[in-house]
Amino acid sequence: MNVRPMESSDLPGVVKTHLEAFPQFFLSSLGPRFLHHFYAAILGDPTGIAMVATENGAVVGFVAGTSQPTGFYRRFLFRRFVSVSLSLFSPPVTKPKTLFAVVRRALRRTTGVRVPRAAELMSLAVAPAYQNRGIGRGLTTAFVSATRDRGSRAVWLTTDAFDNERVMHFYENAGFERTRTFTNSEGRVMHHYMKREPEFVAFARPDVGDEEIEALRKVITSGWLTTGERVHEFERQFAAAVGAKRAVALNSGTAALHLALDAIGLQPGDEVIIPDYTFTSTAEVVLYFNARPVIVDVDARTLNMDPLAFEKAITPRTKAVIPVHFGGLSADLDAICGIAKRNGLAVIEDAAHAFPTRYRGRTIGNTDGMACFSFYATKTITTGEGGMLCTNSDQYADHARIMSLHGINRDAWSRYRTEGSWFYEVIATGYKYNMTDIAGAVGLTQLAKAERMHQRRQEIAGRYNASLPADVLELPAYDAIGDHAWHLYAVRLNLEQLKISRESFIDELRHAGVGSSVHFIPLHLHPVYRNALNHAENDFPVSVSQFRREISLPIYSAMSDDDVDSVIDAVLSVAKRFHV
Ligand SMILES: Cc1ncc(COP(=O)(O)O)c(C=O)c1O
Repeated sequence: MNVRPMESSDLPGVVKTHLEAFPQFFLSSLGPRFLHHFYAAILGDPTGIAMVATENGAVVGFVAGTSQPTGFYRRFLFRRFVSVSLSLFSPPVTKPKTLFAVVRRALRRTTGVRVPRAAELMSLAVAPAYQNRGIGRGLTTAFVSATRDRGSRAVWLTTDAFDNERVMHFYENAGFERTRTFTNSEGRVMHHYMKREPEFVAFARPDVGDEEIEALRKVITSGWLTTGERVHEFERQFAAAVGAKRAVALNSGTAALHLALDAIGLQPGDEVIIPDYTFTSTAEVVLYFNARPVIVDVDARTLNMDPLAFEKAITPRTKAVIPVHFGGLSADLDAICGIAKRNGLAVIEDAAHAFPTRYRGRTIGNTDGMACFSFYATKTITTGEGGMLCTNSDQYADHARIMSLHGINRDAWSRYRTEGSWFYEVIATGYKYNMTDIAGAVGLTQLAKAERMHQRRQEIAGRYNASLPADVLELPAYDAIGDHAWHLYAVRLNLEQLKISRESFIDELRHAGVGSSVHFIPLHLHPVYRNALNHAENDFPVSVSQFRREISLPIYSAMSDDDVDSVIDAVLSVAKRFHV
């Protein structure tokens, strides 16, 4: 190998300038010839490997070679870089996993920078010679494996070893594009490959745009911002959409649940039966009354309340049941309402996920009990924050309306209207739960496109159902009696088919550019409920075992076809790579 080692006088200025002025461009801005000499000089021999790890925009370097750097390079490297001599390892480090473990440990020890995983290493390989001999070949292989599927964004293929078709195809198939090719001064062909930047597919994103901006412009310029005509129109239209007689708009789904329990006159010491597999709102509202949330287990397939468990939990103190339509799939309302009726219990549906959900031809919201919807930012329609209590009962609706605004009786207000618009009567200690016209305006806009948004969610669910690997994943139950709102697409991992945990699966999806989430951490595992209700971890075995396998994949109407493809590709790729 005929490389003139660089004189130390050549190097410091150039390197320092590059590193300090443009650290993030360091690798790509240095010419390949320079790099060639650089590593040859640093490492004393040209079998070297360098990587740049980025974390929060910080750039740190790692250089490894078969010999330790000396003199200036050593001092320089120890300040800015970490170096380890791979020749110290016997047998030489050739496995990517071991190599990265060494790199990560060394980086951590010497710079304090934590590189969470190999996938976050950007890479540059300089192994100009000896690629067919021992460690050089091993490192080449290590690099190829490391950059495959691993979040690397750029590679310089500077060695003869990389000039063969197979390796180039390999990168091209892994989503890299060749951006430059030229012959260097030593007559060697150099290739620069950049990974095509896939858009990160966020777990959730509201479908909002020009229509909402226009609605907001109008409401803000109208001069009326708080509860007014837009909220009342939203209530009318939402009630019509779900087939309910009445709808009361509120500032959250939690407020709707709270007012629903208030409307049935819940008292301290009363019991309300709720499923374990839900968000904290379902339980916290019961505790607001010093009443007791009685948690029951769920059905393993649907993750909705198990009606038998509900029936068994009824006591003389039970006043109500709150079934949750998990993910947008209706709970078994026939069974639950039947049991509730026989036992004289109120049914309050937690419909936070359930617009628009249908059950046996009936839309959720059309109920003689109450159904509580949420318009939180990730929900199927959103007002930023917001909620709606729907019911066919005037009594419940009137109660909720009065209590949503300080217990002010509007009838009294209209009765005495002639006495002046300043008059009102407070008839109960109420709450401040009213929806603003700002939110109402957004809600109306969202409602106008709700059908299109629901269709899109159905399409996405259809693509997932048809494309995701059914051996590794248990797909969500969707064959129930009615329409699924597809607020969530909740899969369960068949962990015995996988070499990795649910947490690692989520990490791998993120590294492949796909956000995901978990729904839900069972209520009884949260300290507040575990302590207040005296629960042990294995009290609700179905809920816990399903939670441990659950991952929610992105599903929202603002997803493009490419986004959907990316999710499918990422899941297939992770499932394949980590299949037992
Ligand atoms: C099952 C369930 N119930 C209730 C709520 C509460 O809704 P909000 O956030 O609008 O108060 C949520 C919200 O995420 C939920 O997932």
